[in-house]
Amino acid sequence: MTEPAKSFRVGLIGTGRISDIYLKTLTKYPQVSVVACGSLNLDESRAKAEAYGVPRVAAPREIIADPEIDAILNLTIPAAHAGVSMAALAAGKHVYSEKPLVSDLADGRRVLDLAAEKGLTVGNAPDTWLGGRWQTMRKLLDQGAIGRPTGCAAFVGTHGTERHNPNPDFYYQIGGGPMLDLGPYYLSAMVFLLGPVVRVAGMANRGFDRRMIENGPRHGAWMEVEVDTHVQGMLEFESGAIGSITMSFDIWDSEMPRFEIYGTDGTICIPDPDPVYGANRFEGEVWYRTRDTARWTHQPRPTGRDVWQVAENTHGINEDSRGMGLIEMADAIVHGRKPRCSGELAYHVLEVMTGILDSPARGAFVEIDSRPDRPGILPTNFPEA
Ligand SMILES: NC(=O)c1ccc[n+]([C@@H]2O[C@H](COP(=O)([O-])OP(=O)(O)OC[C@H]3O[C@@H](n4cnc5c(N)ncnc54)[C@H](O)[C@@H]3O)[C@@H](O)[C@H]2O)c1
Repeated sequence: MTEPAKSFRVGLIGTGRISDIYLKTLTKYPQVSVVACGSLNLDESRAKAEAYGVPRVAAPREIIADPEIDAILNLTIPAAHAGVSMAALAAGKHVYSEKPLVSDLADGRRVLDLAAEKGLTVGNAPDTWLGGRWQTMRKLLDQGAIGRPTGCAAFVGTHGTERHNPNPDFYYQIGGGPMLDLGPYYLSAMVFLLGPVVRVAGMANRGFDRRMIENGPRHGAWMEVEVDTHVQGMLEFESGAIGSITMSFDIWDSEMPRFEIYGTDGTICIPDPDPVYGANRFEGEVWYRTRDTARWTHQPRPTGRDVWQVAENTHGINEDSRGMGLIEMADAIVHGRKPRCSGELAYHVLEVMTGILDSPARGAFVEIDSRPDRPGILPTNFPEA
């Protein structure tokens, strides 16, 4: 990186739960500055502005209309992503949004088309795959540590959000569910590691038609479940590799939360014993075993952490740094290149997720039309200049 984009001025819309980590990250780095924030609840926005030194609080439409603002950071709920992003683009602003890009593909196309027409950039979470463990995984692949990748698997089994989130409603409404909520972390990482997906199939079901909020001031209130909450998908990559993905809000416990890539000469694994957050973090170890060290070469077969090799992590982002994708996008705009956490990648991931969810009703594989570029590995010192 050369000259950082010090003047990249960001207006934040949506000051709920996830905004804290964004504001923490963005105030740490000089490349961007959050100059205003707002939401449907301006008292909430004022509290966040005070806590993180955001100079101005205003209604969302005023922030979108402000000619001094370069980009809108859209941290609203999924059902509001399309409306806020379209309004921001129409007003001539770049957009970086939380995941998913939007809730349905047609809206996603509209967002990307409007951005292209206006010459603006769309970036999208998740950016966790910019973290050291995922970049290390890519480095191992590029070095040929496991030969030619043939498969991958992602598994997250949680029991939803109603035990820790006081307002978990949107996770069970149209636009929510475990695939649209958690799938973007793993599918974005898969495309970064293995390239784009060409076809998918899936199955899904629903453990509960109603769920009770089990924390906070609304404890005891019931929510209707509008979406399937236990989803399994199969993926075929353009490279010929195949993958599986299980995302669930219906699993009380499991030993399975992992992300793995299988190759002709070995396995790379992101282990994660935390069933709530799965492996969707920037930080953590990357393990690998090759044909020389794999358990199949030993008698009796050893298992567990001690028999894996821990990969050396030479990359820079090794703590929760949500918002890093926006910093990278600002750098990309200043240097006239495409951002890594791009709208095109998010659209592809949305097409894959909706394909998996649509496949049971269609009784068929779903072909995936979009082909985003496979994002490049980050410089090891990113985001330092
Ligand atoms: N909470 C998490 O742990 C988490 C983690 C990762 C990603 N996310 C994603 O972040 C996004 C926000 O999640 P959250 O948990 O912060 O939600 P939240 O309900 O806590 O906050 C949502 C915010 O958006 C505002 N908002 C909603 N509709 C709006 C509209 N039409 N116009 C303007 N503002 C609007 C609300 O006033 C509120 O400030 C979601 O897309 C979610 O998937 C959340």
